[in-house]
Parts: sequence; C-alpha cells; structure tokens
Amino acid sequence: MARRIIIDTDPGQDDAVAILLALASPDELEVVGITCVAGNVPLALTSANARKVCELAGRADVPVFAGCDAPLERALVTAEHVHGKTGLDGVELPDPAMPLQDAHAVDFLIDTLRREPAGSITLCPLGPLTNIATAFRKAPDIAGRVAEIVLMGGAYFEVGNITPAAEFNIYVDPEAADIVFKSGVPLVVMPLDVTHKALVTAPRVAAFAGLGSHVGEVVASWTHFFERFDVAKYGSEGAPLHDPTVIAYLLQPGLFEGRHINVEIETQSPLTRGMTVADWWGVTDRPANATFMGDIDADGFFALLTERLGRL
Ligand code: BDR
Ligand code: CA
Repeated sequence: MARRIIIDTDPGQDDAVAILLALASPDELEVVGITCVAGNVPLALTSANARKVCELAGRADVPVFAGCDAPLERALVTAEHVHGKTGLDGVELPDPAMPLQDAHAVDFLIDTLRREPAGSITLCPLGPLTNIATAFRKAPDIAGRVAEIVLMGGAYFEVGNITPAAEFNIYVDPEAADIVFKSGVPLVVMPLDVTHKALVTAPRVAAFAGLGSHVGEVVASWTHFFERFDVAKYGSEGAPLHDPTVIAYLLQPGLFEGRHINVEIETQSPLTRGMTVADWWGVTDRPANATFMGDIDADGFFALLTERLGRL
C-alpha cells in the first residue's frame, strides 16, 4: 500500500522537483494534499507555483491549500536572490487553471490528521515550519497521530546558508521549528550536510534534458537557473537539489546515512537565530529527538530522480 503523505512547501524550484518526484511515484506514495507556506517567495506565489507543478505533472486532482503568509513571530524573509522573482524562474509555466481549495492549510492538516487512522499520515515539510507548528499549537492532539515528519532544514557541519549560522527554512521561522522539534513526533531531517552533496552537475542536468519530455526540459531549465547562485557562492560544480532528498528518503531510505541524536533550535540569539544545534558527537545527555542525516549516495539519488521524472 502506498504511504500517505502531505507535502508542506514554498516552491521554489527544488520544492517543485520534490513534488514532481512524489507525483511520479504513485505505487509508493499517495499525495493526500499539498499545503503551501510563505518562504522562498510570498504565499500568493508559492500557492500558485504548487498548482503549476501539479498541472505540469498532469495531476490537477491533487488538493492544494494556502496556509500561513508569515512566520509565527517574525517578519517574512524570502529568497528571490536564489529562486528568482517568481520562485520558479528559469522557465515560464502557464497560470494554473486548477483552483486553490477553500480551506486554510492549517485546518486541512488538523482535519486530515483527526480523520485518518493514527499513524497513517507522514508530513513532508520543504519550507519554513509555520503551517505545521500552527496546526500543532491549535490542535495539540494531532501530533501524536502523525506517523513521521521527514523535513528539509538545518545544518551542522555545513552550518548555514542564509546566515553564517543558519539554514533558510529554520532561520525564517525558528519558533515554528522549535515547536516541531519538541513535538515528540519521530523526525527525519535532511540538512545542508546532505543536500550540499547532491549537486546538479552538468551531466545530471543533461540527463534531465535527455529524458526528451516536457517535464525533463522544465527541470533542466529550473536547475540551470538556480545553479548560478551556488556556483558563484561556493565555486561548486552545480546547485544542491535540497528538497527532493525528502521524497527520495521515503522511496529509498538506504540512500542516506545519519544519526539519531538531539537537535535543538536557537531562537534567542540574533547572531545564531535558527541554528540547528545538533549533538552529533553525543556530548550532552539531552534525549534524541531526530534522525539527522549526514550522508547521501548522490549517484543513487540522481539515478532515482531521473528515472522517476522520466515517468511523467
Ligand atoms: C531550503 O531553502 C529553500 O531556498 C529551498 O527550497 C530549500 O527548502 C534550502 O536551504
Ligand atoms: Ca523549500
């Protein structure tokens, strides 16, 4: 039976590729809904972009919900410098014809988790954790019903990307991240330590383009667009494809290696706001609350991704 997931997202080219990977894998994954949050770009754009991606995959039937338009306690920080003005710069997709659902994303999360059998829904957050934390605050009973949260966020050895100390998704809404990391839900975390090992090199972009499909061309154009930022910043061969690692983990967990450790979120210090303080070396007696990944089989990951995108 397919694992039932809700993707919580702020597309973002890499979010878009993650959504495509999930929709290309119906035998293993049933996407129950997509909840959108403000992050890479404001909510109006992320909720339009998610629908564009569903339509690109031929899946206008997937319900898409708009959620929180700002972090719990702070002003929104966006990342147009990485993703472009629309969040999906690199290729122009048609405006979506499919509607947004009427319900707020937070109410959809609460209602779904209350309605479905406990332990049957996995959450896949790919952006700031505002929607998930708001749902946990509003309905504390639902946390115990979540099967698992597999999220992209944080960093330990790579430290930060939006500041020297913090990764973007956690930095944007550290209070929300703190709620999620303290929720008691089993967590699997894909930090920059993993995603910076999953670079879209020229041969990997060529493999997307070589699929000979519209989806392949679009993914090649997106990855080509946002690599300019990382290549200039890190001098790397290409851009990290962050968010699809979450979906790849659900499909092939053996591609990843990590440790079950304690991870705390810094919410107080202006200097290190949003830092994921990961006890990788076990130097505290704080209880483990997350499986924090450290390594990825990058060739295996791109082989899986390319093969699955080829099905769309
Ligand atoms: C994360 O931030 C966003 O820019 C990406 O979509 C990814 O979720 C990487 O730090
Ligand atoms: Ca994202």
